[in-house]
Amino acid sequence: EKGGYEHFMLKEINEQPRALRDTLKGRISHAGDKVILDEIKMTPEEVQNIKRVIITACGTAYHAGLVGKYVIEQLVRVPVEVDIASEFRYRDPLVDKDTLVVVVSQSGETADTLAALREARRRGARVVAITNVIASSVAREADDIIYTWAGPEISVASTKAYTTQLVAMYLLALYLAQERNTLAAGNIKEILDDLKSIYAKAQEVLDDIEPIKEFAEKYHKAEDTFFIGRGLDYAVALEGSLKLKEISYIHAEAYAAGELKHGTLALIVENIPVIALATQQSLFEKMVSNIKEVKARDASVIALAMEGHTEVEKVADQVLYIPKTHPVLAPIITVIPLQLLAYYMAVYRGCDVDKPRNLAKSVTVE
Ligand code: M6R
Repeated sequence: EKGGYEHFMLKEINEQPRALRDTLKGRISHAGDKVILDEIKMTPEEVQNIKRVIITACGTAYHAGLVGKYVIEQLVRVPVEVDIASEFRYRDPLVDKDTLVVVVSQSGETADTLAALREARRRGARVVAITNVIASSVAREADDIIYTWAGPEISVASTKAYTTQLVAMYLLALYLAQERNTLAAGNIKEILDDLKSIYAKAQEVLDDIEPIKEFAEKYHKAEDTFFIGRGLDYAVALEGSLKLKEISYIHAEAYAAGELKHGTLALIVENIPVIALATQQSLFEKMVSNIKEVKARDASVIALAMEGHTEVEKVADQVLYIPKTHPVLAPIITVIPLQLLAYYMAVYRGCDVDKPRNLAKSVTVE
């Protein structure tokens, strides 16, 4: 049942190209210039009337929401808030009929996410659910559903659910941009072109795991690690650090790279592994400076950058290149080396990868 893999997690990481393709299937027009989301039943007027978007979820799904915020704000120019479901449900949220609430849940059964959904609907918001389980509680109670077609995810650590949630977010953002005319048709097509081929780039990353394995072998005894990034890379850094904590029990902190100076830099000491994400072209120079900052404290830096951005080699100890893609789509492929890093770190430490201590796959109680 593990399809020849040692763990479900590794199998599921490797299933991502297929899962990404399935999640896109039928959702891009033949000409490649339009998003087709028939499952969204909002009238054109309702789409026009959206004043705010709130995304709410837990754990990894929340991290997909953080990517959603950047992308929806950038493409649709509507304010987006992201809230942890257990916070949202108890904070008397400002929600009304012009608020679009997006809940994200792989299982569709997470107690806090379901409660957040109910709270949002009670206050008159329309709720779109992004979920992986057909007829799950979240799917049954939402107004609209965008299914991710990741297939069953067995490993407690979420991998293919996350990358397919990202695809659902991109589709939703592009759909809103198209319906509200906030993006030129050419720009929509350009992103869709790259989205269609993202699965092949994910495969390229999966075909080149040796450097990650070596890094994991070298640093698996580390007690503390840092993930730094800016913009979309910061959202991915949070997901990478959660994955590492969850299955390898290594302490990992994710920081917006610009925040280092405001406290965290005090913790950067000799040989501490720092995973620096530098895939965003517009923020690249800033990241190079942040890498210099941690190198000045003798950290061991592995950087992730897009192909061609070789300048980073001068500052980082090691560089992993991800295939070139539209910068907004980079999280889908940037996270894969981080999933693999967490996986191999956990394997080298002898951890129970698929069933980390104290955790359940689906948190159906508070
Ligand atoms: O089923 P859900 O997407 O609602 O689950 C949310 C979180 O419990 C889940 O993503 C959790 O954080 C993962 N184990 C992380 O890998």
